[in-house]
Amino acid sequence: MRPRVVLGVSGASGAALALDCARVLTGQGAEVELVLSTMAERTLALEVGPGAVDALTALAARVHAVTDLGASIASGSYPVSGMIVAPCSMRSLSAIAHGLDDTLLTRAASVQLKERRPLILLAREAPLTLAHLRNMTAATEMGAVVMPPVPAFYLRPETTAQIIAQIAARAVDLLHLAAPAARAWDPSEGNAP
Ligand SMILES: Cc1cc2nc3c(=O)[nH]c(=O)nc-3n(C[C@H](O)[C@H](O)[C@H](O)COP(=O)(O)O)c2cc1C
Repeated sequence: MRPRVVLGVSGASGAALALDCARVLTGQGAEVELVLSTMAERTLALEVGPGAVDALTALAARVHAVTDLGASIASGSYPVSGMIVAPCSMRSLSAIAHGLDDTLLTRAASVQLKERRPLILLAREAPLTLAHLRNMTAATEMGAVVMPPVPAFYLRPETTAQIIAQIAARAVDLLHLAAPAARAWDPSEGNAP
């Protein structure tokens, strides 16, 4: 059976991360269980373009409505290998940190925590309030990995596309589904961090 991974997309900036995460996941043979928040549809269209939602859903094995709290991924009995929220807004982070389970995205995230499965949160905001930091701490204490989508400057990326691809690959690699997809630091290249 191919591994299933939930990809939650919320309405933070960095919508292109969702597309690259989906590409890396499918490239590693995983089935993407996609759930988009209402604001994610807006940021995808705004930041990537009018065809972005369609491009993303085309990469998914299954697409779930964010309002469908009876979907398969709302239950711990449905086997998945983990979940990535890319990007993760401060609203979704807060709902996850407080166990609200109020949308399918936050419910599916909560399921990963209760089942002790990997949950990777590409939490994006800048600067951060104390509430954001406390919510990141709470999510981390429950077992989530908070991975702000910051560039790997030490790899000297030349384009935004390279930055996004590296962050998405690193996020997927945290699920340990296959051989690492992200470019590794190589000291022999001489561009030391
Ligand atoms: C263009 C745009 C960019 C945004 N960027 C961020 C962001 O980087 N981080 C964030 O927490 N919210 C951001 N927001 C606000 C969220 O979309 C908003 O808080 C929303 O309630 C999030 O809901 P969701 O978590 O259900 O997607 C942005 C909104 C827009 C329209």
